[in-house]
Amino acid sequence: MIRLDKFLCMMEAGSRSQVKELIRKGQVTVNGSVVRQADVKINEEEDRVFCQGKEVFFLLHVYYMLNKPAGVVSATRDNREKTVLDLMKGVTGKNLFPVGRLDKDTEGLLLITNDGELSHNLLSPAKHVPKTYLVKTLKPFSQEMKESLEAGVDIGEDKPTRPAKVHLMEENLIRLTITEGKYHQVKRMLKAVDNEVIYLKRLSMGSLELDEHLAPGEYRQLTEAEVEKLK
Ligand code: URA
Repeated sequence: MIRLDKFLCMMEAGSRSQVKELIRKGQVTVNGSVVRQADVKINEEEDRVFCQGKEVFFLLHVYYMLNKPAGVVSATRDNREKTVLDLMKGVTGKNLFPVGRLDKDTEGLLLITNDGELSHNLLSPAKHVPKTYLVKTLKPFSQEMKESLEAGVDIGEDKPTRPAKVHLMEENLIRLTITEGKYHQVKRMLKAVDNEVIYLKRLSMGSLELDEHLAPGEYRQLTEAEVEKLK
């Protein structure tokens, strides 16, 4: 059981003062009857609440980070392939989906949530959310390749890629930060500088960093601080 005003706030119908005002004005019904007391307790799982004529469903947003292993696809369901949600059998009934896609052979950070708005904000091409990858390359990574990726390369799209950041770690190992998310983007960028990806792992997305304690295939809920920062 939960207070009506708290329930409406949690479901993002408005701020505490806004929802109190809506309740006072008779714009909220519970099981078909207008309720004008903000402190009435409702059963959030069973009662049917309407606010300004629209039903307010009880759905708490949940946020997980998965260390995606190679060999699974970034989908909710697949008839043939194992999916990232198959790895999260312990979490059911939450309408979870992965935020964006990693290739089947890519490892690393994948955010799994049921928060459509956050997902939209992180994936929107206009927002340029940075994503950092660890990339092992077939050939030694040269200074010239670094300069090309940092300037932007032609991967067959309308425009060159946006300037990336490259940190050379070893001869065949770089950390690459991009602010776009085109199909096979990193692999195509490396091809464009006459090199090739032989191992790819995502380390971060926006402010969210892969927890290094998670082995491939393991997941954990985000902390409140991680969720706040991402939003
Ligand atoms: N770029 C790729 O080429 N593959 C991924 O999985 C992610 C980024």
